[in-house]
Amino acid sequence: MSLRSFKQYLEQLKILGIDYISTSFNNINLNKINEAFISENEDYESLEQISCPVDSIQRSDSSYDSLGLLKLKEKISNCQRCELAKKRIKLVYGEGSQASKIMLIGEGPGAEENISGRPFVGEAGKLLNNMLAAINLKREEIYITNIVKCRPPANRQPALVEIESCMPYLLQQIRIIQPKVILLMGKTAINSVLQKTDKIDDIRAMQPYSYQNIPVWVTYHPAALLRNTAWKRLAWEDLKKFRDFITENNINQ
Ligand code: URA
Repeated sequence: MSLRSFKQYLEQLKILGIDYISTSFNNINLNKINEAFISENEDYESLEQISCPVDSIQRSDSSYDSLGLLKLKEKISNCQRCELAKKRIKLVYGEGSQASKIMLIGEGPGAEENISGRPFVGEAGKLLNNMLAAINLKREEIYITNIVKCRPPANRQPALVEIESCMPYLLQQIRIIQPKVILLMGKTAINSVLQKTDKIDDIRAMQPYSYQNIPVWVTYHPAALLRNTAWKRLAWEDLKKFRDFITENNINQ
């Protein structure tokens, strides 16, 4: 790695909230990283039970099976399946290439996404870009979408009925793209796709998971990391494992 890329890498870590790093070039004490990042509040709130019946939804919506990504987007652009449609400015379908091998799934659009129609373009999106850069991924290389495609008012967590209404679209996106790996960000995504309601730390400890034979990794939602920077160190641990998995399996080649 050139000095310049190493410097960029350190800058990305810094943006992620990692202030110190142990390297062979100097003797920065790694313990200091831990001290700096351990918070009183490491216990991530336990996941609320959403229990979205993913498989039943999937079976009941095979009508979408033959559609490609763009056709599906067109077909759902005026979706009225749930209340979120009423206040929607733009439906945020997702972006990236149909050929993407990596799929990232967040919760739902926020204010800026609602206006632009693009996922993860606000503050959380900026952090996401930095997180991706820190593991040598560019946004353009992955497919990014959300559990719900329309903004929940005041950025509240999507309701079960809204998640259930929207899941067929996500499931169809997964079927079309057939990613080699999925990264779920935050409890809504983890809960809706994996139906896991344990504490996120317990869920993280057992990864990777599998969804329809696709390996699934999980981590904190970037918006949660903005609220609690102490979780950034834990997210970084997840991202490193995710990156190693991608490398070991030649996923992004
Ligand atoms: N948070 C999400 O989960 N998705 C977005 O697109 C933006 C913020």
